[in-house]
Amino acid sequence: MKSFKRYLITSALPYANGPVHIGHLAGVYIPSDIFTRYLRAKGVEVISVCGSDEHGVPITIKARQENKSPQEVVDKYHNIIKDSFEKFGIAFDIYSRTTSKVHYQTASEFFKKLYDKGIFIEKYTEQYYDEEVGQFLADRYIMGTCPHCGNDRAYGDQCEKCGTSLSPTDLKEPRSMLSGSKPVLKSTKHWFLPLDRFQPELGKWILQDHKEWKVNVYGQCKSWLDLGLQPRAVSRDLDWGVPVPVKGAEGKVLYVWFDAPIGYISATKELTPDWEKYWKDPETRLIHFIGKDNIVFHCIVFPAMLKAEGSYILPDNVPANEFLNLEGEKISTSRNWAVWLHEYLEEFPGKQDVLRYVLTANMPETKDNDFTWKDFQTRNNSELVAILGNFVNRAMVLTQKYFDSKIPAVAELDEYDRETLSQIPQIKSAIERNLDEFRFREALKEAMNLARLGNKYLADTEPWKVYKNNPERVGTILNIAMQITANLGILFEPFLSFTASKIKKMVNLPQNKWELAGGIHLLPVGHVINTPELLFEKIEDEVVAQQLEKLRRTKEANEKASVAVTPQKESVSYDDFARMDIRVARVLEAERVPKTQKLLKLKIDTGIDIRTIVSGIAEFFAPEDMVGRQVVVLANLEPRVIRGIESKGMILMAEDSDGKLQLVNPAAPVANGSTVK
Ligand code: 2FM
Ligand code: ZN
Repeated sequence: MKSFKRYLITSALPYANGPVHIGHLAGVYIPSDIFTRYLRAKGVEVISVCGSDEHGVPITIKARQENKSPQEVVDKYHNIIKDSFEKFGIAFDIYSRTTSKVHYQTASEFFKKLYDKGIFIEKYTEQYYDEEVGQFLADRYIMGTCPHCGNDRAYGDQCEKCGTSLSPTDLKEPRSMLSGSKPVLKSTKHWFLPLDRFQPELGKWILQDHKEWKVNVYGQCKSWLDLGLQPRAVSRDLDWGVPVPVKGAEGKVLYVWFDAPIGYISATKELTPDWEKYWKDPETRLIHFIGKDNIVFHCIVFPAMLKAEGSYILPDNVPANEFLNLEGEKISTSRNWAVWLHEYLEEFPGKQDVLRYVLTANMPETKDNDFTWKDFQTRNNSELVAILGNFVNRAMVLTQKYFDSKIPAVAELDEYDRETLSQIPQIKSAIERNLDEFRFREALKEAMNLARLGNKYLADTEPWKVYKNNPERVGTILNIAMQITANLGILFEPFLSFTASKIKKMVNLPQNKWELAGGIHLLPVGHVINTPELLFEKIEDEVVAQQLEKLRRTKEANEKASVAVTPQKESVSYDDFARMDIRVARVLEAERVPKTQKLLKLKIDTGIDIRTIVSGIAEFFAPEDMVGRQVVVLANLEPRVIRGIESKGMILMAEDSDGKLQLVNPAAPVANGSTVK
């Protein structure tokens, strides 16, 4: 591999339309953090930048749902996300946001430069427009019937029932989610990045020059390239985002996927005036940590933008991960099917490293993986507690007990001691080899192997049995055990930094240097160690049961909520509404209509007259339930003859999606004949 002078690490900017969950952590932020910490430990010049992605339609949708402004939404989630990252020890040098002033300026200038160079194609396209609201509709703001499965709640970009990707014009009976009205197609101008023009360069750069990229990343790029790249619009008709900085672009903003990756540049600018050396010097190694859904944007679109601009370097690697599922199901923000970091921090205080460990051990590096609470418990109890925690504690406690907390001298090494010691540098090399190639699970396994080695060594040599007859031998054993412990303190730092700090503090590590790890003289003879404390504690069955119960309740709530809500009908004028005579009436008599299941014949007092209404409510209300009650009726509905009875009007009912009926009536009694308006 080419050698580089410095590193620039970026981690996908999370959307500030919700908090972050374990999927984000396992997919992007833990790998990026491990890698950054590893480089820092080795003394490499590195910066790690990230921030919140605060534009795009999902934010505006969230704002509508929460009845807030988009700015209020992003302020709220930016703070929650930033706080979660800090508490999990994700060590960015800067965590910025795309609503920052620097970002607006940087993104604008970037667009302007490409515009001035004549890179963009300007094109008019037909897009759905809501005439009532006076707004073009983002794909997510259009709903209609899926042409594939008939789901009448499919979105303009996707049917969530059958999973098909759609474009808005595929939908049957499209309706605007803003007003419920039928949108019309209207022409609108946009700027397109001609990716096709960059195809030859990008094709060579990825397929020939970066064969070392992860198979999942390389494969996805190859299939995009094989399909042939197409121009992509980089502007949108939306009122939330970075305005398109050219004349004639009023009401248009940069597409979120154009501005978001520029956010990496803006964050670097905010961090250091020396930002250009990170972005423009070919001796910088740029690495993007992302999830698999971001591959095309980081491997094709953003590099094309950077190339078009002309003065930037391209990423040297994009080690994207696959997805993490939760208890066998896809993590979903909208369905609340997730383990949220801010909730975990409250429910498991001080246990950040347990989650970091489990997520790294289970990292979806090459395929989707599953997080289960049972596995969380097992890995904690049988690996962190039983191996790492147990070994460190035994080594510390025995040294305290037999040698007054001072590192004992080595008397004589036997074959087994030598063999054990020789494995320490080998394990260090294996950790490095794996980290260098973004194999975080393997690297962690190797680090655990060092704890395993120590644990086995103590179990095999049994110093507690030997001390009485041969204290010198025990000195040798504990010296070795303590050297392993000190190595663990250094080598675990990229993975479990809280735990590593505790170990280093306990052993009172004289020199915290990665290059010293692998060595067997980290703690000199006579060196005094501190009081041991337990690194991990057992997780009991009821804790797991509580978490599973929480998920079960989520599922139950989802099932209730997923019972489809009828979409809004087309708008009516006030005059249309005012033509309906809706009023309160009282039921005087009620009886079943013979030979029917559903019908009741009701005699009611409407305040204007006493009349008969036949109503299909018998499955839900017995005649005696109805007598004496006030109801709301549509009085001027055309009379109809039902089963030979003339029915004059209709009783109004609330009907849920299961077809269950509830009476609608005034909250307090009113005079019969009172109108409803
Ligand atoms: O998928 C996402 O969560 C996006 N917000 C990632 C953006 S990465 C970058 F380009 F900023
Ligand atoms: Zn469908």
